[in-house]
Order: sequence, then structure tokens, then C-alpha cells
Amino acid sequence: MKYVVVSGGVISGIGKGVLASSTGMLLKTLGLKTTSIKIDPYMNIDAGTMSPLEHGECFVLDDGGETDLDLGNYERYMNVTLTKDHNITTGKIYSHVISKERKGDYLGKTVQIVPHLTNAIQDWIERVARVPVDDTGEVPDVCIVELGGTVGDIESAPFVEALRQFQFRVGKENFCLVHVSLVPVIHGEQKTKPTQAAIKDLRSLGLNPDMIACRCAKELDQPTIEKIAMFCHVGPRQVVNVHDVETTYHVPLLLLSQKMIAYLSERLELEKLQLTSKDQHRGQHLLAKWKNMTDTFGHSDHSVKIALVGKYTNLRDSYLSVIKALEHSSMKCRTKLEILWVEATDLEFESQNTDKTKFHEAWKNVSDADGILVPGGFGSRGTEGMILAAKWARESNVPYLGICLGLQVATIEFARNVLGIKDGNSAEFHPELPEGKQVVVYMPEIDKENMGGTMRLGLRPTYFQKDTEWATIRKVYGNSQSVEERHRHRYEINPTLLQRFEEKGLHFVGRDESGSRCEIFELKDHPYYVATQYHPEYTSKVLGPSRPFLGFIAASAGVLDPLLEGKYEYQGTADF
Ligand SMILES: *[C@@H]1O[C@H](CO)[C@@H](O)[C@H](O)[C@H]1NC(C)=O
Ligand SMILES: *[C@@H]1O[C@H](CO)[C@@H](O)[C@H](O)[C@H]1NC(C)=O
Ligand SMILES: *[C@@H]1O[C@H](CO)[C@@H](O)[C@H](O)[C@H]1NC(C)=O
Ligand SMILES: *[C@@H]1O[C@H](CO)[C@@H](O)[C@H](O)[C@H]1NC(C)=O
Repeated sequence: MKYVVVSGGVISGIGKGVLASSTGMLLKTLGLKTTSIKIDPYMNIDAGTMSPLEHGECFVLDDGGETDLDLGNYERYMNVTLTKDHNITTGKIYSHVISKERKGDYLGKTVQIVPHLTNAIQDWIERVARVPVDDTGEVPDVCIVELGGTVGDIESAPFVEALRQFQFRVGKENFCLVHVSLVPVIHGEQKTKPTQAAIKDLRSLGLNPDMIACRCAKELDQPTIEKIAMFCHVGPRQVVNVHDVETTYHVPLLLLSQKMIAYLSERLELEKLQLTSKDQHRGQHLLAKWKNMTDTFGHSDHSVKIALVGKYTNLRDSYLSVIKALEHSSMKCRTKLEILWVEATDLEFESQNTDKTKFHEAWKNVSDADGILVPGGFGSRGTEGMILAAKWARESNVPYLGICLGLQVATIEFARNVLGIKDGNSAEFHPELPEGKQVVVYMPEIDKENMGGTMRLGLRPTYFQKDTEWATIRKVYGNSQSVEERHRHRYEINPTLLQRFEEKGLHFVGRDESGSRCEIFELKDHPYYVATQYHPEYTSKVLGPSRPFLGFIAASAGVLDPLLEGKYEYQGTADF
């Protein structure tokens, strides 16, 4: 196993995650199998209970692990499936060591940060790095370990020490360190001092950088590179210049153009890894597809406007996976993406709105859009506005995609306006609602008393029902019998109403194994009116967009038929 550790200095939030996942993606183009581990030096054990407002989105894994968006980045770039153990936190390590101590595993010895905690960190990394992360079921060749925070923080100290020891445990040819630093431009001059100081800190802790990745708004000048190389005791080849590019999807190509992978290959003796020619071809194919994607991106004359009707529209990070899935899909449909952010409460009745211009502007956005998306969320604020947006999409034949809450509000809308269930609503927003008006109900198996950790979480199968071959969503999924997607919910559509909906044309085409829990609905005789109880955005990949999103974007851009005919595949190399 080869390890590439990515650490950061100077300040956080300079794109360490993008650099790390791009490096992983590039190593994959050599034909290697890659995996990744994110170290977060927080005391938290579970991200599920953290506020999305404070913490950005909660990302759900196959195994139901609730993590933050960085693991999503790895999954999307590297096309892998990670587990909750791929996220190491200080809290998890401490709790592991303490429970071992309680069980008497340390034979009553004094338990210390060094060596017990630092050993536990190293053992964890070695164990998790070997977990297969793709459908080959094989052990990966390379593991990217991203160390969160900045080196020198109190928080990251035990991890830095563990990694210092780790380089000797696994051997020099199996360990390399990429340190991400910042080169600010002040009065037009590229300043190298912060980088010099960061590298000095790193070395004083016993870690030597193999590569220094410098984040800078502009391309680094040759004298800057030479200066960094000289003062940081590395060769100029070891200084990588990560300047701003058109999109983050261009970062792998930027690194490639600077021969970063050639250097890592040499340093880690990757050519000794005996790859089959099939693996190598697979890697080349991947690179060709990625190039084809970035080359066409932005050169399209078409653009598609999507209204995102949500609740945290002032905090766009909480919809990151949704936005990524929209981006992946529009790249595949060769169209530019324009997102119109609509705060759902702004769509609610004029009389209740203090701000009339906002109301009109919000409705203008909705009516300008080629497609309307209502993503997941919790709580009742804004739901009436979402219901109105769903109604508008249904009646005006505008493509609609609802996710989780977006499925529930559209179902409530249909119940009220088509089935005539006046005041139909969700038991989540109105627990006192009489049974006949509960369109959305609490799932029986979920324990109501205990809020934390009592959701239907992670990967679950959905089965397409009999006589649903007509459904566009089924075609978009390649006419499969069943699909597996990630869930995160506590409420569901009232199963006793399903038949009444279907009689009026809203078909629950995908259900769980019991046949009564609704997973996907689609409205007949509408260009694309689809919603899912699960969250398809979590499994969207850069080169393999989530299918419900892909269908939605294609329908919004008017290219659904050519998409279904396979006209939008990325072109890889043909020489196999
Ligand atoms: C890892 O888990 C911790 C605690 O649950 C969370 O705060 C952090 O955001 C997670 N990190 C990733 C990359 O998912
Ligand atoms: C991503 O990985 C899956 C399973 O490991 C594979 O079936 C799929 O073809 C890969 N996608 C791309 C775009 O390489
Ligand atoms: C309409 O969309 C634009 C573009 O996203 C956004 O700046 C504006 O705030 C939106 N207006 C309303 C009222 O939602
Ligand atoms: C990308 O692939 C498409 C086929 O899907 C092809 O028409 C196009 O020319 C390719 N673009 C580039 C820039 O290679």
C-alpha cells in the first residue's frame, strides 16, 4: 500500500480537498485503484446531529454514515464508495482507545497519547486503507490521507505525530507528503514567506514535504518557484503551482500538466506495482473521458436554467451535493447550468409577505426556469411555497425533480388540488392533523422518542413496480428492475393513499421490498415530473451523473430523447 498524505499550512479552506481528490483521480488514470481517508481533528463522533447551518451539508454514505462534504468530494472524483471508517476524528480515536482500556486490553498499563493514541491512529489508517472501495472488491493500491486543519494546531498534534511515526512504519517508498500552502499576491508581488514559515513548522514536527502545492490566484512566476524551492529545501520540480482555473474539474489536468504524477510515480516507485495492460487501458480511458468532459465544458452555446426552491438558499453549501449532481448532469448533456436560487418563503402568498418585490422576483425566477427542483430539508418553514412551486411545475408542464421533502410537498400538492383532500398535509408539520388528512406520515418503525440517530439511513433497494415500463425515470435508470440509493428520512407518503393517487395519474413506480413504501413517483402525461424519497445526489459521480438528475436536466434542456438513445456518452480512447 502506498500512502499520499495531504496536509495544509498557513490557513484552512484553500482547496486541500480538491487537490487531494484530484491527485487520487490522477493516480487512477495510471490504472491504480485508489482510496482515501479524511482525518478531522474534531471531538465529534457523528456529523448527523450537527447543524447544517453551521456545518454545511450532511453527506450520507452507503453504510448510513453521516459525514461532511469532503468524503463526497472523494467519492465523486475518484468514483469510489467509502464507509464511515474512512473518516477519522479525534473523538472516534479517543473513544476507541478508551473502550479498549475499559476492556482491559492494555493490561492495566498507563495509557498515553504516545504511543497508545498514535498507534491507534496508525492501525486505523492501515486497516481502513485496505477496505475495497469499488465493485472489483480488490484491495486498493494507493490511499490518499487528507489531514484536516492546519499543521501546528493543537488539535492536529496527535495526528501529525502519528504520521511522523507512520512514515517509518510503512517505509520511505510507500509514504509521501504533499503540503498545501498559500502564496498571497500583495501589490502585485507573489509572497513566499507564509509558505517558508509553514514548511519550517512542518519540518520541526519531523515531516518533510515531498511536494509543495502552492495555491495562488495567478500562475506562479519562475523566480517565485525557485525561491520557494531554495528556501524550503526542495527541487523546483517539487513545487506545484495550483492557480485558479475555470472550474475545479480542471484541477486534475492542471496537476497533470505540471508532471505531478510523474514525480509521485518516481518517488513512490509506482512502476514496480505490476499493472496489467487492462488496468492501464482503463486508466487511459478514464483520462480521455475526463479530458473530453472538460474540453466541452463551457464551450456549449446552450444553457439550462434551474430554479432551486429551498430553505437555506442563503447557505448554499448545504446543497452542495445537489449542485454537484446538477453540474455533472449538465456537463453530460453538453449544456451550461444556471441556478436560480429561490427562497421558498418568498413564494408564499403576497399578503403574508412583507417584501412584495421579493415575491414577484421569486415567481419570476420560477417562471423563467426550464426546470424546478425542490431538494430535501426538515421543518415546516417554506413548505407552502414549495407546494406552490410543485403545483406550478405540474400545471405548466415544466420538468420537476423532488428529493425527499421535495417528493412529500409535491404529493401534498396533488392530494389537495387533484384528490380534493382539503388541508392535506404532513404529520411532520402538523402532528395534530386528523388521520384522513395526513398525506405524509411518520414511519412506524422509527422510534419517536429518540430523535438522534433514528432515521432510515443509507443504501436501500427500490423495486420498479409491475407495468411501469412507460416511466421515464425507469428508462433513465437503464430499464433496470431495481436500483439502490441512499436514504435519510423519518417520514413517508401515507401508504393507504397510494391507490387514489395512481387512479389520478401520479404513479408510485418505485417502492421498497414491502411494496407499500413509496420511493419514486412519476406523473403520467408530463414531460418529467419525478420525485424520489431517497437522495440520489449522494451517489452522483463526475463522469457518472445521478440518473434522476440526468433525466431532469435532459428534460429541462429538451434533449431527453437523444440522451436515452445514448448520444451523450463521453468519448474515451478507442484503442483497447
Ligand atoms: C467526520 O466525522 C466528524 C464527526 O462526525 C465530522 O465532524 C466531520 O465533518 C466528518 N468528516 C468528513 C470528511 O466526513
Ligand atoms: C465507477 O465505478 C463503478 C463501480 O465501481 C463502475 O461500474 C463504473 O463504470 C465507474 N464509472 C466510471 C465513469 O468510470
Ligand atoms: C432570483 O434568482 C437570482 C439568481 O440566482 C437570485 O440572485 C435572486 O435572489 C433570485 N430572486 C429571488 C427573489 O429569489
Ligand atoms: C467528446 O466526445 C464527443 C462524443 O460524445 C465528441 O463529439 C466530441 O468531439 C468530443 N470532444 C472533444 C473535445 O474531444
